[in-house]
Amino acid sequence: MTGDNHGPDPAGLIPGHAGVAGRRVVITGAGRGLGSVLAAAFDAAGARLALVARSKPALEDVASRLSGDHLVCAGDVRDELFNDTVAEQMTERFGGVDVWIANAGVSREDPDITRMSAAAWREVIDTNLTGTFLGARAAAARMGAGGRIIVTGSVLGDRPHGRLAAYSASKGGVHALVRSLAQELGPREITANAVALGWFETGLGSFWQRDEQREQDIARHTALGRWGTDADLPGVYLFLASPAAAYITGTTITVDGGYSLL
Ligand SMILES: NC(=O)c1ccc[n+]([C@@H]2O[C@H](COP(=O)([O-])OP(=O)(O)OC[C@H]3O[C@@H](n4cnc5c(N)ncnc54)[C@H](OP(=O)(O)O)[C@@H]3O)[C@@H](O)[C@H]2O)c1
Repeated sequence: MTGDNHGPDPAGLIPGHAGVAGRRVVITGAGRGLGSVLAAAFDAAGARLALVARSKPALEDVASRLSGDHLVCAGDVRDELFNDTVAEQMTERFGGVDVWIANAGVSREDPDITRMSAAAWREVIDTNLTGTFLGARAAAARMGAGGRIIVTGSVLGDRPHGRLAAYSASKGGVHALVRSLAQELGPREITANAVALGWFETGLGSFWQRDEQREQDIARHTALGRWGTDADLPGVYLFLASPAAAYITGTTITVDGGYSLL
């Protein structure tokens, strides 16, 4: 199975998606994989975007397929100054930030825990958890009422796997982080939510599909009997960024085809 990176037409996914037209949206991890699908969907919905990842050529490739106004911001989400710079560039160009989608993430299959290095642990935690905190901090400092922080979590955050200790801990961490942010930022009418994804064909998921047996086992373990595709992704993010989700905060919405049920 292969996913395509061009994203679905969001108009077909949620009626009223126009609620994000004109919104100023930062998407981290937008250079490939799921973040590039989100970029295409928010662009099609009329949002103004900042695309964030370390690889500038990858971001420019994604940007070349967008029709709306956007910025390319190449840098590392682990760098606190970089996160502030992205927010400042959004403010200079568009006058502010409405939505921050903390989606950049890395995953590795760990060795046996007794052989796992602190450096490998830190790389995952620093990117997935600390990078999310730094982005949320930069966003919260500039957002007004109606601001949205949306974090890409994982079903592994609540249902960890062996040999994925750092990744599972980082995603459990972001699920907790949005609950804390929601309480702190609620009085300012800023919401914070996570999306716990199951197994998607695109991005990191494609690594796990290289093993055909594992690919089939995961599909069998999923209530809907298949992996997630690009079309399954953007609806929940567009919804959380829209006025329809104004009263939803501090929660993790699972998008996993029923993987967590079994
Ligand atoms: N695909 C799945 O099945 C699945 C399932 C559950 C959760 N997720 C989550 O979905 C998110 C996106 O993953 P993906 O599957 O799309 O992976 P991907 O294809 O590897 O894309 C990851 C993106 O994050 C960027 N990135 C990584 N480290 C970064 C850093 N330090 N600073 C800035 N950008 C960085 C990468 O670009 P550069 O390398 O150029 O920086 C790339 O654009 C992640 O949070 C992942 O944990 C994915």
